[in-house]
Amino acid sequence: MLNQPRYTVLATASLLMIGSPAGAAESSGEAVYAKYCASCHDQTGARIPARSALMNLSPARILRTLDFGAMMSIAYPIRRDEREAVARFLGHGPEDAPPPPSAFCQTDVPIMNGAAKASWAGWSPDASNARFQDTENAGLTASDIPNLRLKWAYAFAGDVTAFGAPAILNGTLFTGSAGGTVQALDGKTGCIHWLYQANGPVRSGMAVVRENGRTTLVFSDQNGWTHAVDAKTGKPRWRKRPEEHEATRLTGTPAEFNGVVFVPAASWEETRSIDPEYPCCTFRGSITAMRASDGAVLWKTYLVDQPKRTGKTAAGTPTFGPSGAGVWSRPTVDPARGLLYVTTGDNYSHPATTTSDAVMALNVKTGQIVWSHQMTPADVYNSACGAKAVNCPANNGPDYDFGSSAVLVRTMAGKDILLAGQKSGVVYAFDPDQDGKLLWQTRVGRGGTNGGVQWGMATDGRRLYAAVSDVVRLPPPPGAAGDASHPVGPVGNATLAPDKGGGITALDLITGEKLWSAPAQACAPPRPGCSPAQPGAVTAIPGVVFSGSMDGHIRAFSTAGGQTLWDFDTEKDFTTVNGAPAHGGSLDGAGPVVAGGMVFVNSGYPRFGGAPGNVLLAFGVN
Ligand code: HEC
Repeated sequence: MLNQPRYTVLATASLLMIGSPAGAAESSGEAVYAKYCASCHDQTGARIPARSALMNLSPARILRTLDFGAMMSIAYPIRRDEREAVARFLGHGPEDAPPPPSAFCQTDVPIMNGAAKASWAGWSPDASNARFQDTENAGLTASDIPNLRLKWAYAFAGDVTAFGAPAILNGTLFTGSAGGTVQALDGKTGCIHWLYQANGPVRSGMAVVRENGRTTLVFSDQNGWTHAVDAKTGKPRWRKRPEEHEATRLTGTPAEFNGVVFVPAASWEETRSIDPEYPCCTFRGSITAMRASDGAVLWKTYLVDQPKRTGKTAAGTPTFGPSGAGVWSRPTVDPARGLLYVTTGDNYSHPATTTSDAVMALNVKTGQIVWSHQMTPADVYNSACGAKAVNCPANNGPDYDFGSSAVLVRTMAGKDILLAGQKSGVVYAFDPDQDGKLLWQTRVGRGGTNGGVQWGMATDGRRLYAAVSDVVRLPPPPGAAGDASHPVGPVGNATLAPDKGGGITALDLITGEKLWSAPAQACAPPRPGCSPAQPGAVTAIPGVVFSGSMDGHIRAFSTAGGQTLWDFDTEKDFTTVNGAPAHGGSLDGAGPVVAGGMVFVNSGYPRFGGAPGNVLLAFGVN
């Protein structure tokens, strides 16, 4: 089935229009870049891919990013001819071409073959968010791990980031990508079953809804759209914006329960506030319960009250609050207690609320907040603080979001515990039977804006495995653009410390006691984009825990003592099954996925100064 991505058509159509618009002076791409882009992309600060990474993209790709990609809201004031000019000025990468017919599966390769039972249904194999795959579903044991080797590689053609969270259903892999394409690939060979084009980059995983013999995938994109797609055909069922705010950014995977999906919402406002003219802030984190069959909203819970005008900044820009408490992670369903556990990020503006940096329980039927525990009070922060810009709130907080899901686990002793890891570097255990009473807390990292536990922990019911980022940005060398005497950008031209950050720790589930720690090794050799930080979500199977690093390596550690069982460097060129060039880079965000004897890893993450890459790697033993 040749189901070509829509974006190539749109991009070609847009490129055909490139040229001098009638009646308008031709725009200089360089001037547009200087006016609208340089302040961010001429440095490698937090969350921003560097200009050199953008130059590897095609003009069509850059245009798509401005038109309906990650830069869409920044591009609102930019005229059509200006967009085209800046895309031509910046883009030096190869044009996007549709995949060759040879990249698609032959008709005798069935999608979601019933014979392949193993699954990893979204962010975690199941609703608990434990990121643990049992032996039967893993199809791998600890003794197999040293023999893992690359089976196939798939290129996200034209992308500089590979951050999708794959799902595996009956031998088929589904993953989003930075170009906004969701792909259904055969797990064994990587051939393409279908491609679906979203309205923005897709890094959310898939909620898997099985109803009346039909499987629907529900996922979200970075421009605020939630999509429901038939898993067999890739045909859309519906697409909706669960939240009206224009800065909405949907990163977290929707959770599913009884035919309802719970869509978590976070936003771009935190970075938008670098702009001194941006009225900060009005976005409110939320959970929207949508009926999976048609997207109808059943309930919606905002996590802060409606913002009001609060005053103005030193630059005269009006300020609003409360705001923030965005939800970046997949909510956790607790069917026994009828609860949905949600973790939240910081407030962006004053007044502070009690619902930021919190772990909370919502009634799964009504969305009503049943209990809420704030771990860091008064954490009012936005990216203007790192940039020393006027929108930074007074007495700003440390930006200690919860970026990862709460994990519900039953211990070997039969007791349920709820775990949560914070960017502060602290891991907490709560008692779900006592309204989330705190049972223990243990520090596993130093913490920071991009520190601590970022994307997710794993547990096998005995131990909890928590890797930390703790990435360290070095100040720019004197005289470089971005140092104090050349303040070009909001965050400075930082590079990453090659010998600081990272590490993984195993904790006893009952006591929180540290059982072992495997410190990270320094980058060898030190190189741009390399840090030993381990911000990505970790994944466990019996005896083994997998953790990716910003140094480009995916490693497997023994759960018994933290010894390294396997180490593969992804930061190189790969020959791909779909024929497009691919290179690996930093590992961050969604972690590895294990199912049916295979390990799947996305590589490439140029945000936070990391190394770009655009490859999905599939490992197996035979
Ligand atoms: C306020 C800061 C800011 C400004 C101004 C800005 N960008 Fe960006 N840009 C970002 C950030 C942050 C990202 C990373 C988005 C993400 O996390 O996906 C990004 C991502 C991109 C990407 C996508 C890279 C990828 O992963 O595929 C392109 C292309 C891009 N920007 C082009 C531009 C152009 C062209 C302009 C000027 C018209 C511009 N940007 C202005 C902050 C900015």
